[in-house]
Parts: sequence; C-alpha cells; structure tokens
Amino acid sequence: MASFPELRLRRLRRTERLRALVRESRVDVGDLVYPLFVVEGEGIKQEIVSMPGILRLSPDQLPPEIEEIAGLKIPAVLLFGIPEHKDETGSSAYDREGVVQQATRAIKKLAPQLLVITDVCLCEYTSHGHCGIVVGDQIDNDQTLPLLAKIALSHAEAGADIVAPSDMMDGRVKAIRESLDKNGFQYIPILSYAAKYASAFYGPFREAAQSAPQFGDRLSYQMDYHNLREALREIEQDIAEGADIIMVKPALAYLDVIRQARNTFGCPLAAYNVSGEYAMVKAAARQDWLEERKAVLEILTAIKRAGADIIITYHAKEVASWLKSGDA
Ligand code: PBG
Repeated sequence: MASFPELRLRRLRRTERLRALVRESRVDVGDLVYPLFVVEGEGIKQEIVSMPGILRLSPDQLPPEIEEIAGLKIPAVLLFGIPEHKDETGSSAYDREGVVQQATRAIKKLAPQLLVITDVCLCEYTSHGHCGIVVGDQIDNDQTLPLLAKIALSHAEAGADIVAPSDMMDGRVKAIRESLDKNGFQYIPILSYAAKYASAFYGPFREAAQSAPQFGDRLSYQMDYHNLREALREIEQDIAEGADIIMVKPALAYLDVIRQARNTFGCPLAAYNVSGEYAMVKAAARQDWLEERKAVLEILTAIKRAGADIIITYHAKEVASWLKSGDA
C-alpha cells in the first residue's frame, strides 16, 4: 500500500472537474418528495410562521403550486390534510369528500405524471390529536387498524399513487395491504413510516397541521430515540407485512439508522428531512448565520450518503431550482 509521499489524497481535490469526477454521492431532483399541506375550505393561502416559504393551501389554490412543482421535475408530493371538522375517531380522514381526497383528485387532473403520496394518519383529524383511537388514557392499537385501512382505501379511490402510513400502530401495513388488495388496489404501493421516532423536530409540523396531541405525548407509539436495534425490528416487521418502501424519520439526527437500514434491507429507503430540521436552517439563514444554499445541499447530500434513495424535504422546490440552474 502506498503512503505519503507517493500517496497524496489531495491530488484528486485540486480542481472542481477532478472533484466532480470522483464524487461518491449526489442529490438528484429525481430523489425528492415535496410535502404539501392542504386545508379544507376555499381561497386559503397561509404561510406557516415557523416554516418560511411553506404554505397551507385550500384545494382551489393548488394549480399554480402544482404547475411549479411539476415544472421543476420534482417527481412526487406528499399530502397532509387539515380538515374543518375534527372528532374522536377522525371521521373526516376517510370521507370521500375529505380535503386530501379532493386535493388528490385535483392534482391528478392538473399533473397526471406527478406522483401523489398521501399521509395516512388520524392525528390531523382527531379532536384529541392522537394518531389512534383513545380508550381511557391509552391509544388503542387494534381499534385503530380498520380506520387506517379505510383512510388508505379512500386515498387510493381518489387516485393516490402511493399511501404512506405514519401512525406507528403495530400491524397497520398488513391491515392496509389487505384492504387495498380486497378492493382492487393491489398495485398501489405502501411507503411505511417504518422507523418513526418520537421527536422534538416535529414541532413546526404540528403548528402547520394543527395536530399536536391535546393530552400526553406520542411516546407509547412512536419510537424511543435512544434505540437503533429496535428500528431494524420495526422495519423488518413492516417489510414482512408488505411495505414496498420503508422510511426513517427524522433524518438528520438519525443518519446512523439510515445507514444501518440500507446495509440490512434491500427495499427502497426514504428519509424524512422533517419540519424542525427545515426550520433550524431557515432561522439561522435569516440571520445570516450560515449560507443557506450550501447548508441545505450539505444536509441533503449527507442523507443520500447515509444511504437514502428518496428524500422527503420542504427544501425540494429550492433544491430543484438550484439543480436546474446549475447552482448546486
Ligand atoms: C403525522 C405526522 C407527523 C409528521 C409527519 N406525519 C407529526 C407527528 O407525528 O407528530 C412530521 C413531519 C414533520 O415534522 O415534518 N403522524
């Protein structure tokens, strides 16, 4: 083995052409998924204070946004719904005329090529803000499963290309797969939020989606962030139940989990660069405490380098436009 002075690792760093030639990972626009918050009603277009640049839109306000996303060649959006009406069982989540169902139909009409992924969960639709049915002070796993299956089916019926359960109930991938298959949607893939940690980095999202739990926390269903082996068991279980794509969430503080999942499993792997990760960069950049474009590209490249194939990120539009103009 060569060593210094024959070996000089700096040789391949001398010019940008050389560096680009030996580059090991790159972020591509084709990797990106852009989350969209759709709110029931008309004429609504509100910026989310803790997430500068991210809007809550009613379905009638979608056309210019969808045109921009499709024009930037971002392959997919991930839809979150904010309903007018919340109740104990989150019934507006599986309403045919629910906000996600309406938005899905609208988007598939506006841009048939754009993949619509729908978040399947109850927390935005329940009065208590939990991701499952509440019995006493507990979140009941098994009573929640049929509801999740109903939500996923209603999304598929509206035209969703992929359904993405984010609730963290045990057995939900199986319940959703069975219900899709029974109803003729055997070709609709499931992207499961397989290793979803209970995280402080969801704070801005809960403002955006008005989905903060009204009592307690999510620690009895989302994962404990001290654990890595448990994430592999969660992922293994979801694959066994029929997940087509698995997700690790959040991304930035969980790059080890992404790497381990990539080394262990063959299926496509998504990472969710969550709201709090976005908010931190935006807040620092606003004060000129870091260079936003460089910081964003470094973060997203690190998520790719760790092993993610797909990155769900609120930065998708800006990154796509930098890549398009050769600024990345
Ligand atoms: C709903 C859900 C959450 C996120 C995605 N789906 C919030 C939560 O679990 O409280 C977080 C996304 C983000 O922070 O960007 N279960």
